[in-house]
Amino acid sequence: MQTVTTIVNLREAVDELRGSGSVALVPTMGALHDGHLTLMREAAKHADHVVASIFVNPRQFGPNEDLDAYPRQLAEDSAKLEGEGVALLWHPGVEAMYPDGYSTNISVSGVSAGLCGADRPGHFDGVATVVCKLFNQVRPDMAFFGEKDWQQLAVIRRMARDLDLSFPQVDAIHGVPTVREADGLAMSSRNAYLSPEEREAAATLPRAMKEAIARILDGQEVTPTLGMLEDELLGAGFASIDYTELRDADSVALLDEDNGNARLFVAARIGKPRLIDNMAVA
Ligand code: PAJ
Repeated sequence: MQTVTTIVNLREAVDELRGSGSVALVPTMGALHDGHLTLMREAAKHADHVVASIFVNPRQFGPNEDLDAYPRQLAEDSAKLEGEGVALLWHPGVEAMYPDGYSTNISVSGVSAGLCGADRPGHFDGVATVVCKLFNQVRPDMAFFGEKDWQQLAVIRRMARDLDLSFPQVDAIHGVPTVREADGLAMSSRNAYLSPEEREAAATLPRAMKEAIARILDGQEVTPTLGMLEDELLGAGFASIDYTELRDADSVALLDEDNGNARLFVAARIGKPRLIDNMAVA
């Protein structure tokens, strides 16, 4: 696996790959776990060459968020990517991504309005901006993102559609189902912040979400069901709930009852991290 840190070297390396087949991009912020590696494997099924990026993007972190503490472990990550047969690692520094005088922002309205967009002002502008830049830098035929960050995926697809992106085209932006630990907790780089006790309590999140979904499918009312879900999380040791909401899977519009295409979205804090998860109401 080749690692490049400048745009010039990236262009050269990608051009060479493109000469011998299709290219998939998997953007990440590193601290790679099996969720990320599943994206690499999915990408390898569809494309001849996989390009991974690792860039802890300052523009998507709020002033009081964990930018400085975010785990950085390049040597370990490189070994994992190498093991997955990734051809190229794009690892720019902040200066390469946002040189002096950088002034452009991409802001996607609508899908970015509620959920994490409401709790983390500016977050999805940062995501859309960096992903658009990554797309332009690598010009991949296709790209892979996790459904763990459902709203992020919706924002990126909206941006690709709205800006008529052709590398990749919107249809070539693939979502990959959430990869979970044995007890159901969605894998996340931020799970590393949990103490052993918090880690155990965190497994209540997927379990309680499944129970809530079963109640909704059983015809019970949504608002009290979500109230019970919140009580269960707080009772299990979660410190606070940012949201528990039912939304349309495609438009991400808020629902007060199951419309047959609903997903349950939760964000809640336990110990240091804020955990997010989403599941189909099916
Ligand atoms: P990061 O949190 O590193 O995630 C990189 C990709 O891995 C995202 O598409 C995310 O949805 C996916 N992912 C994370 N955990 C997963 C899991 N348990 N199962 C399946 N996929 C999972 O998301 C970002 O980075 C950034 O916002 C980024 C898109 C790179 C832009 O900076």
